[in-house]
Amino acid sequence: MRRKLVAGNWKMHGSHKANADLLAGIAQARPFGCDVAVCPPFPYLSEAAVALAGSDIRWGAQDCSAHEQGAYTGEVSVAMLAEFGCRYVIVGHSERRAYHGESDQLVADKAKAALARGVTPIVCVGETLAQRDAGETEAVVKRQLSAVIHTLAHCAGEMVVAYEPVWAIGTGRTASPEQAQAVHAVLRAQLRAATAHADAMQILYGGSVKPDNAATLFAQADIDGGLIGGAALKAADFVAICRAAG
Ligand code: 13P
Repeated sequence: MRRKLVAGNWKMHGSHKANADLLAGIAQARPFGCDVAVCPPFPYLSEAAVALAGSDIRWGAQDCSAHEQGAYTGEVSVAMLAEFGCRYVIVGHSERRAYHGESDQLVADKAKAALARGVTPIVCVGETLAQRDAGETEAVVKRQLSAVIHTLAHCAGEMVVAYEPVWAIGTGRTASPEQAQAVHAVLRAQLRAATAHADAMQILYGGSVKPDNAATLFAQADIDGGLIGGAALKAADFVAICRAAG
């Protein structure tokens, strides 16, 4: 059976004090029966690394540059993240695709840059409401994942995939377990065609996961945990979601 992963995407939230309280609240609740990670904003990453040192709670970044180094003002390379012990980096979040115009290929290049430094990319895919209503869900997520699969080639089995329907993010409107499972099954089949590791890969669901809906989502055959936004900012909620994962 695949081990589940619950990752908190803190987005652009937090402060010294709020983060310390949140991390302490999560650490206190250990041990968990699943992999657990937090993804704070860049300025707080090294602080989180120190706070989590010696614990099995992992940390990751919310984005990275596709470049190794150079004149890219404002960007952060994977090499820099790796130097601090970064374990994951979220790439292709719908907020970056929508607000920063990130293309499928750029997302794929970021995932490749992450793996080249031993950091696991959490590659996000997901359709908008208009795309779902137009019956395009499967085509959209397959196109997004396909770019990454082709770019990673023989390393494709090393990524984590996150299905995040855009219409479910921060809206309180969750995909039903059946809707989510249907897309996860499509993604798993696509991965199977690309890599022998597909059945060992974690495919996370994200989009209004809360303590009261996490267990039924995580009980689906191809849902291997969650990428959590709003509920990752409250220790009690995040811990409850981690408990629901195992
Ligand atoms: P919410 O859990 O706030 O809907 O956010 C999901 C998300 O975007 C995680 O990356």
